[in-house]
Amino acid sequence: MPDTHFGFRQVELADKQALVDDVFHRVARRYDLMNDLMSGGLHRAWKDDLVTAVNPPKGATVFRHLDVAGGTGDVAFRVIDAGGSGTRVTVADVNAAMLAVGRERAVERGYDDAVAFVEGNAEALPFADRSHDAYSIAFGIRNVPRIERALAEAYRVLAIGGRFVCLEFSSVDVPVLQGLYDFYSFNLIPALGRLVADEPQSYRYLVESIRRFPRPQIFAEMIAAAGFRRVSFRPMSGGIVALHSGWRL
Ligand SMILES: C[S@@+](CC[C@H](N)C(=O)[O-])C[C@H]1O[C@@H](n2cnc3c(N)ncnc32)[C@H](O)[C@@H]1O
Repeated sequence: MPDTHFGFRQVELADKQALVDDVFHRVARRYDLMNDLMSGGLHRAWKDDLVTAVNPPKGATVFRHLDVAGGTGDVAFRVIDAGGSGTRVTVADVNAAMLAVGRERAVERGYDDAVAFVEGNAEALPFADRSHDAYSIAFGIRNVPRIERALAEAYRVLAIGGRFVCLEFSSVDVPVLQGLYDFYSFNLIPALGRLVADEPQSYRYLVESIRRFPRPQIFAEMIAAAGFRRVSFRPMSGGIVALHSGWRL
């Protein structure tokens, strides 16, 4: 599939990444609080389902997990909690401000031996081929300008037998919920953004990026086109989010 998936020209793709970087640079300190407020705490349950799919081994078996667009480390800490003493998580994110918050939290919460924070772009990951046993990306891939490149990179860095899991906003498929969700997205989320982070524009961008993201069936086809097998997805909370999965076999 061409790089112009969203109809953006190359220069617009570069602009998109700059806009995304600016948004997360501004909100880094309040990011986790905003997540709780905007999802009514639901993001915790969605992430728990992602961690269940990752299924890190409980014992001392070495398990190298990569959480891309991992921001402040929320998913990484959950994977470490779920896994055994051999579980190691690398958080890769393009945004130094988000990573800095994550590093501080890892030290405060005693996770710093099990987690590493690395600045890196999902489209060109700074890791060797087949270097990880699992790859996750939560609420990150819709921010990446060239999704196909990110998927190709996910495939490249996964070991044979490794699993790709992706949590992303999806397409609400219940009509009543759709109306409520639209109102919530275009009115309440920017208002919350103004109140808590004084960033209504940033949060408006996030809502719009959700609307532009491919429908789940199309995204599943993109995952398969990157080479993944046994590709599947599961809508959650009426389709507000979907958990996508594929295997490198
Ligand atoms: C909505 S946050 C998600 C953070 C975390 N995964 C979570 O669920 O709490 C999106 C993250 O994607 C990161 N991001 C955006 N573009 C990226 C790229 N091209 N490569 C890696 N990370 C990127 C942002 O810096 C931000 O930390």
